[in-house]
Amino acid sequence: MAMSNFNQELTLKQLESAVDGDPKLRLPHLYNLLSILKCAVPAGAWVGLYLFDKETGLLLLGPFQGTPACEKIAPGKGVVGTCFSKNETIVVDDVSKFPGYICCDAAAASEICVPLQKEGAAIGALDIDYPAGFNFEGESDFYEAAAKLIAPLIS
Ligand code: SME
Repeated sequence: MAMSNFNQELTLKQLESAVDGDPKLRLPHLYNLLSILKCAVPAGAWVGLYLFDKETGLLLLGPFQGTPACEKIAPGKGVVGTCFSKNETIVVDDVSKFPGYICCDAAAASEICVPLQKEGAAIGALDIDYPAGFNFEGESDFYEAAAKLIAPLIS
């Protein structure tokens, strides 16, 4: 399977420069960060956030770019819920082999999910699905760096 290949360094610079610290622009910044990611990664990828909602105890769909997606995921369930509960990056080269995988789009073949953290605690997850033909080799660091830029924008 081909390595996904995009300019990670340039994309991180784009992400950094899209955030100016204005608290009123948190949501617009989030939408733009997701758009920058979507434009950078392989065509057909899904890029989005799941945010923990204390009232329901569920991870709810946040800003995203791509096809419609599952709106709520329980902690511990699927790739996203597992990432959140373990508070660690999960890389799944073949989603059909992940126990309890939640299918939102039949075109998704590989998935990486990175926790969004505040003071070390998981508050949600940055989730990326790739279509067949790519894998995430060498991309964990990139998505973890992106998650560090995204997390402070979540109130
Ligand atoms: N596949 C995920 C569900 C979310 S979507 O991929 C957008 C999972 O197993 O948690």
